[in-house]
Amino acid sequence: MNSKGKYYITTPIYYPSANLHIGHTYCTVMADAMARFKRLQGYDVMFLTGTDEHGQKIQTLADAKGVTPQEYVDEVVAGIIKLWETMEISYDDFIRTTEPRHIKSVQDMFMRMYEKGDIYKGEYEGLYCTPCESFWTESQLVDGKCPDCGRPVTKAKEEAYFFKMSKYADKLLELFREKPEFLEPETRRNEMIAFVEQGMEDLCISRSTFDWGIPVPIDEKHVIYVWLDALTNYITALGWNTGDELFEKYWPADVHLVGKEIVRFHSLIWPAMLMSADLPLPKQVRGHGWLLMGGEKVSKSKAAKGQDVIDPVILIERYGIDALKYFLLREYTFGQDGIFTNEVMLRRMNFDLANDLGNLLSRTVSMIKKYCGSEVPEATTKDAIDEELIELAVNAGHRVEENMDEFKFNMALEEIWKVVRRANKYIDEKEPWALAKDESKKAELDTVMRNLAESLRIVSILIEPYMHTTTERMREQLGLSDVKPVWEDAFEFYKMDGCKVEKGQQLFPRIDIDKELEELYAIGGAAAK
Ligand code: MSP
Repeated sequence: MNSKGKYYITTPIYYPSANLHIGHTYCTVMADAMARFKRLQGYDVMFLTGTDEHGQKIQTLADAKGVTPQEYVDEVVAGIIKLWETMEISYDDFIRTTEPRHIKSVQDMFMRMYEKGDIYKGEYEGLYCTPCESFWTESQLVDGKCPDCGRPVTKAKEEAYFFKMSKYADKLLELFREKPEFLEPETRRNEMIAFVEQGMEDLCISRSTFDWGIPVPIDEKHVIYVWLDALTNYITALGWNTGDELFEKYWPADVHLVGKEIVRFHSLIWPAMLMSADLPLPKQVRGHGWLLMGGEKVSKSKAAKGQDVIDPVILIERYGIDALKYFLLREYTFGQDGIFTNEVMLRRMNFDLANDLGNLLSRTVSMIKKYCGSEVPEATTKDAIDEELIELAVNAGHRVEENMDEFKFNMALEEIWKVVRRANKYIDEKEPWALAKDESKKAELDTVMRNLAESLRIVSILIEPYMHTTTERMREQLGLSDVKPVWEDAFEFYKMDGCKVEKGQQLFPRIDIDKELEELYAIGGAAAK
């Protein structure tokens, strides 16, 4: 297959302060689906994820546990990598900000910006908690007190390095004007434009009250403060400044996929840093919404016993990776917040997966076994109903492409499920069990079986980016396990000459929702601790 060019996609790098929950999983699942989709289409894909390991919070957590910050992050990061492995997330590289390659890259970045005259030493003023040795902003305080220990904070100043962000305000506005596609969706773009127009302050990029960070190369008393460290990961992984050809090949990124609260850092600070370092800007930042629980962002600290289970490890154990991924991608509208409950999840899994897709496959395979001795027969007849099904199936891929271009994962899946539902209805309309009773209807019966098998083959290709293990399991039953799913084949109909079906396990067992919910609530929250 000819390569269609390169495609570089990233997730945010996650804080390894605790194990990840369903909200984090949501973002990575979207990035994975997009990476797999582009690969299937023939792009040369680079998919990056990783962990953001420095900072005060990690240091405080490690101190409380009596371990070094490095020991602390090593343990949490091992769990994160294990989660992605279990979920078969198809990343090409996993970056940790504590790796030597990243430390060098961040220091090089700092020096580039410094040599440009964009970094100066000044005074950082903030609200300081003396026992925790932490600076906080007004909005981080809880009831006006330190969010970590609950004690009062006082105004304090410290020497720090600053990045002249304000110098780039006009250039950023020009970027939004000339390349509106740089930041999607539009609502997020308008927020950012308003933010810049209000007047942008310079950015504090160092701290001297803790040392779990990358040293400022010109001043060992300071460590580089979070965002300059974190954002640089996207070029570190490509070997920026080391002569690595990956950088030439994949930079600029095609898309940074991020949650809405960190859009600002990606669409203002990151481009300003790159402008300062004379590096090309990413093509796009896409901001997604949050999964909410009880009206608030899903988070571990808020999970309590008797609540919905938000630990992806438990959910995968019970329902499998594809059911969870399908739910996340199908249920939520990109860019908007969405409510997460176990009940919504179980209903979605039952209706769409067990009922619609699972049933269609098992019915089809059983009938081909029974009526055609397991061999996918030839279709020699065609009426209007057949044509409608074929038309829908061979064109679904176009509609999937259109929706994926806009990151509308839910609509892409809906287009595929239109085929699934149409095929189920086709069975009801054609009543193959009645055709089977009449010898003179054998050709028609064969056509029905063939058309169902081909529709399922097309579905098995279309769903690959979202549910690759189901693709495999479907293809085994359809007698296609030796044929690789190829995107182009989803646009053609008769491709199953000589295929022999084989009955396998139910793709998705039906869930007894009431019983399952009770069990989940019993586990809920406790598991989140
Ligand atoms: N370390 C920074 C990102 C640096 S990127 C250069 C960070 N980490 S985080 O672990 O707090 O969040 C990572 C991502 O998870 C963010 O994009 C955030 O929006 C996402 N989510 C965390 N909770 C979420 C939900 N409840 N719902 C959806 N996404 C959520 O920020």
